Amino acid sequence: MTSPRPILVTGGAGYIGSHTVLQLLEAGQRVVVVDNLCNAHEESLRRVAELSGQQPTFHQVDLLDAAALGAVIQQHRPQAAIHFAGLKAVGESSQIPIQYYHNNITGTIHLLQALAAVNCRQLVFSSSATVYGDAQEMPITEAAPLSATNAYGRTKLFIEHLLADACIADPEMKVICLRYFNPVGAHPSGRIGEDPNGIPNNLMPFITQVAVGRRPHLNIFGNDYPTPDGTGVRDYIHVVDLAAGHLAALDAMDRISGCEAINLGTGRGYSVLEVLRAMETASGRPVPYEIQGRRRGDVATSYADPSKAQQLLGWQARRELSEMCDDAWRWQQSNPLGYAGQP
Ligand code: NAD
Ligand code: WQD
Repeated sequence: MTSPRPILVTGGAGYIGSHTVLQLLEAGQRVVVVDNLCNAHEESLRRVAELSGQQPTFHQVDLLDAAALGAVIQQHRPQAAIHFAGLKAVGESSQIPIQYYHNNITGTIHLLQALAAVNCRQLVFSSSATVYGDAQEMPITEAAPLSATNAYGRTKLFIEHLLADACIADPEMKVICLRYFNPVGAHPSGRIGEDPNGIPNNLMPFITQVAVGRRPHLNIFGNDYPTPDGTGVRDYIHVVDLAAGHLAALDAMDRISGCEAINLGTGRGYSVLEVLRAMETASGRPVPYEIQGRRRGDVATSYADPSKAQQLLGWQARRELSEMCDDAWRWQQSNPLGYAGQP
């Protein structure tokens, strides 16, 4: 896969981006990261360099700044791009929807324009299982009906549509939209991981913060779902497996044409209580919880049919829930305040 032209990674200082940049560097790729650091610290990339022994090139640039983005892309002339940059908080997206649409959609359009100007026609896009809305059939295949229940989800849906249209207009363009299920965990070194701002929205970082004593208890959003124990069931995927899916997607570019949407999940669902128990085992600490009402917009159950990823990318998730919890816990314990808490 190594090529003399670099891989451009937008949002590469963020959670999933940093784990992917690490694997790209370990695979011998040159990597150029563009990130405005609105939800990340440059420290993540310093640690990626420390872990890999290789330095990614970093430009602190906003995708909304088309001129600055264009200049970076003209300078490096990437072979392909992996596009992580975006705002991702579901609740916030309902409060400031226009900012979400502008950042995620306009940012993607600027990226496509700048890539076209250097004849770069290969893109891997961070989509999400949120594009399936409240799916009626499990496991969820890529052929399931698409819908969205919030502004964030609609940005992902619109971007998938605009990428598909771009591919129809340009037969040489290749796009893989990776629909992630629930990314969790951290690099096994404990040096890079998820560093949410403020109160975490997602389950796993919230649980680790309870286990480490930063928060008194977990609020479980509903125990009256039609699931085995009444709590929501999700397909949690280790971020290291997820990152590997991006390298597999780059490798598959020669074998695909047009725009492909591919699920990245394990194919197995776990309930909130199962994740909580697994984290208690990993941490050796109790995780107190209180049952609350359902969270608006949540679905009962969501898990992937990951067979298309296996067939098209030769990729499958390998890491179990216990490893996800072990690694999330190691990261949390060695970085109780995230990157900002470090010298
Ligand atoms: P993250 O917030 O850690 O990473 C996103 C990065 O993009 C951040 O470093 C942020 O600073 C940067 N960014 C945002 N807007 C930008 C802009 N206009 N210009 C330049 N940089 C910008 O999030 P993540 O969890 O690593 O998610 C990466 C991608 O995967 C996102 O597109 C997200 O929507 C998608 N996704 C995430 C999840 C999840 O649960 N983490 C699930 C499905 C899909
Ligand atoms: C998982 C389960 C909650 C927190 C979200 C986005 C989705 C994607 C991944 C980006 C659910 C329960 C959670 C808490 C709880 N992101 N929960 N107490 O909602 O499946 O997906 O992140 O694309 O778009 O919607 O993930 O981790 O928030 O919730 O009980 O404090 O944990 O109700 O059943 P979700 P999550």
